[in-house]
Amino acid sequence: MGTLNFEVLTLFPGILAGPLNESILKRGREKGLISVRTWNIRDYTEDKHRKADDSPYGGEAGMVLKPEPIFKAIDAVKAASPGDAFLTVLLSPQGRLFDHQYAEHLSGEKRRIILLCGHYEAIDERVKDALVDEEVSIGDYVLTGGELAALVVIDAATRLVPGVLGDDESAYRDSFGDGILDHPHYTRPAEFRGMQVPDVLLSGNHDAIMKWRRRESLKATLVKRPDLLETADLSDEDRKVLQELKKNFKL
Ligand code: 6GU
Repeated sequence: MGTLNFEVLTLFPGILAGPLNESILKRGREKGLISVRTWNIRDYTEDKHRKADDSPYGGEAGMVLKPEPIFKAIDAVKAASPGDAFLTVLLSPQGRLFDHQYAEHLSGEKRRIILLCGHYEAIDERVKDALVDEEVSIGDYVLTGGELAALVVIDAATRLVPGVLGDDESAYRDSFGDGILDHPHYTRPAEFRGMQVPDVLLSGNHDAIMKWRRRESLKATLVKRPDLLETADLSDEDRKVLQELKKNFKL
């Protein structure tokens, strides 16, 4: 099993430092299951003011990331790992939506993954034309920069790398795998401030517990994210349960 390698190009490497040094990302890096290197785009600027952006041609508000420092930074990333292959991903609100499927696809990527974080509004189009393989967005809203999105991508892909999650944690690895929402969870005490844990979970009847969990997952999905049911991996039994839920809850 190789390492999942990320090379993050950013003007603000400090944004990434905290999250990469906590919890599962930290442990995944320590175990050598993933690696994350950050590269400061400003280090590849050419003028004495270390200017990474400039005003747009054609006259409009805002700034545009200049091409030269990004080309130079990517040259440096590639020169640091001669012979390796690279996948270059631009984080931007114009990209295709990041989801569980894409996280799975990235988690098995053998090439080094370059995550290019834009900041300010825009990036010179020639960077996209010449260097970017895929453009990815994490949702329909605008962030101040791609750094938080890069962390989301790294986090979601990392937890799918075999060995990153411990045994206790890995039970949850597939909770989105079949495309529906998770069921409720409870731990001790069995009664807390008058609120009971559902009897079935204390019954020891494994079959009944599995059925209850599946039904609760389907119910949560039906109520909160019915759109997911169109693409979810559902059995005939699931469809029967859904029909019954719709009748009971007049949905
Ligand atoms: Cl990847 N970048 C920025 N700047 N904003 C976003 C985004 C990415 N995804 C959603 N909003």
